[in-house]
Amino acid sequence: MNPNPRLLSGIKPTGELHIGNYFGAMKQQVELFQSGAYECFIMVADYHALNFIQNPAQMQQLIRELAAGYMAVGLDPEKLTIFKQSSVSAHTELAWIFDTITTMPYLMRAHAFKDAEAKENEISVGTFNYPMLMAADILLYDSAVVPVGQDQKQHIEYARDTAEKFNRTFGETFLLPEPHILESVAIVPGTDGRKMSKSYGNTIPLFANRETIIERVMSIVTDSGGDRPEHVYAIHKLLKSEAELLPIYEEHAGKYKALKDALIEDLDSFIAPMRERYEELMTSPEMIDEALARGGEAAASVANEKMEQVRRAIGVM
Ligand code: ADP
Ligand code: TRP
Repeated sequence: MNPNPRLLSGIKPTGELHIGNYFGAMKQQVELFQSGAYECFIMVADYHALNFIQNPAQMQQLIRELAAGYMAVGLDPEKLTIFKQSSVSAHTELAWIFDTITTMPYLMRAHAFKDAEAKENEISVGTFNYPMLMAADILLYDSAVVPVGQDQKQHIEYARDTAEKFNRTFGETFLLPEPHILESVAIVPGTDGRKMSKSYGNTIPLFANRETIIERVMSIVTDSGGDRPEHVYAIHKLLKSEAELLPIYEEHAGKYKALKDALIEDLDSFIAPMRERYEELMTSPEMIDEALARGGEAAASVANEKMEQVRRAIGVM
């Protein structure tokens, strides 16, 4: 038994990882893991992704890419548990139990639901229910910290509220989790200055090759008119301190092309080692599947024990 508090986090396998995912969420996961202070569970949230990806070949590919991505940034499957949400049926089982103690108006207040409602006129039950599955993900492992980007904060509050409600109704069962959000990079901007997001097409992929880096940096919107192209600077600041950037931006004041070239070099040196590991891992999908299968077994043994406790608490065994 690992005596350390648990850390759990997850990402949906819905597309290419980008540097917003890295600086907003993954970097902290790696740092907390490397600190040795937590027992870490890192999840590929494939059942959450099913709301968006309904093509089996694509789903399988995206799961492998995300798992390889986690490993390439330094999350070692030999030393922590990397697993697929779908490997542990307790997640969906507990989500159902939470549904029964949760009201519709409460779920209708979720930002993600409101955004979906603004875009589509018929929202799936899975989209509506998204926070309950995420609460189950977190609470099943008695997770003490959940490192994520700013946009996920409300979901963690939903998990806390749900834990409190369950504990009040059925007795002390779940630990209340804390979000872990780095304020300095809470929202990483994209090439157009809006939040970097695959749904806006404004990303810099985390494992981009040099050609893509050049193409994306050249597309950064620079209509600021001043000496410093703000959207270029905002991304550059992720890679170098303000003190390091000052001389570069002074030397090339007003020369957007030179500043973009400097950003391209810094991005390429930052990305290259991770890209090499990622490409290497993607050459052996069977190794990725095997690591995920092992992780699934380890996760299930923790989650199933918690489920026993839940079943006793609600009186079904
Ligand atoms: P996307 O918006 O591209 O679909 P996801 O919603 O899949 O990204 O996010 C996965 C993780 O990365 C979450 O923890 C989220 O908070 C974090 N994240 C995504 N985009 C950003 C960003 N631009 N800045 C900070 N964190 C981000
Ligand atoms: N909802 C998260 C996202 O969109 C992914 C996620 C699912 C997650 N379950 C989780 C994150 C549990 C942290 C903990 O990024």
